Amino acid sequence: MKLMLDTANLEAIRLYQDFLPLSGVTTNPSIIKKEGRIDFFAHLRQIRQIIGRDQSLHVQVIALTAQEMLAEADAVLDKVDRDVYIKVPVTAEGLKVIKLLRKSGVHTTATAVYSKMQAHLAIAAGADYVAPYYNRMENLNSDAAATIAAIADEIKRTASSAQILGASYKNIEQINRTLEAGGQAVTVAPELLEQALALPSVDQAVQAFRNDWFAVFGEEKTIADL
Ligand code: E4P
Repeated sequence: MKLMLDTANLEAIRLYQDFLPLSGVTTNPSIIKKEGRIDFFAHLRQIRQIIGRDQSLHVQVIALTAQEMLAEADAVLDKVDRDVYIKVPVTAEGLKVIKLLRKSGVHTTATAVYSKMQAHLAIAAGADYVAPYYNRMENLNSDAAATIAAIADEIKRTASSAQILGASYKNIEQINRTLEAGGQAVTVAPELLEQALALPSVDQAVQAFRNDWFAVFGEEKTIADL
């Protein structure tokens, strides 16, 4: 799987960058809001500096009309860099933008995807990533895993190069189900990742192994000390 961080928090990005095989960072206006009144473009450039050019940085537009979304995309590409993936909500206007950006060679992530049809249209429009909102779909009593499986089928059927970037996770099982349904990538908030790694039974097992080792080789003596 490809793992992305769903945050704009520089400290969290630096921390997870150190030990996780990250593929990118995704943001949206609500995620940006959590950082307070930042210098938007400078902050995004700092994220790029941390993650480098090999990872993808996804930045969402706010405008409602295609013309204004394109102006926002231009501003992001000019003031951050040309490799940014422009996140475009899959509305009628958004689909126009995805098509036009595709034509000019700009990467896009089709976002705010709640339905198969939205995803299918975004794939046809040429989006690089399609981001189904897992938890939000579940809140609407919609079968998120089945939706993702159908999107995966559509990608296969049309031999599209689009990838599913699952988003909006509130628990680890939703991530597992995304991958089992055929999702290639997931974007996860740092708080949830922290929970994924905080398994008391794993810590207990590690400590029990250490205790057995120390019982034979002496207090706190590691392999390197032998
Ligand atoms: C991806 O970047 C999405 O915008 C994000 O995962 C949505 O998450 P939410 O449903 O918690 O707002």
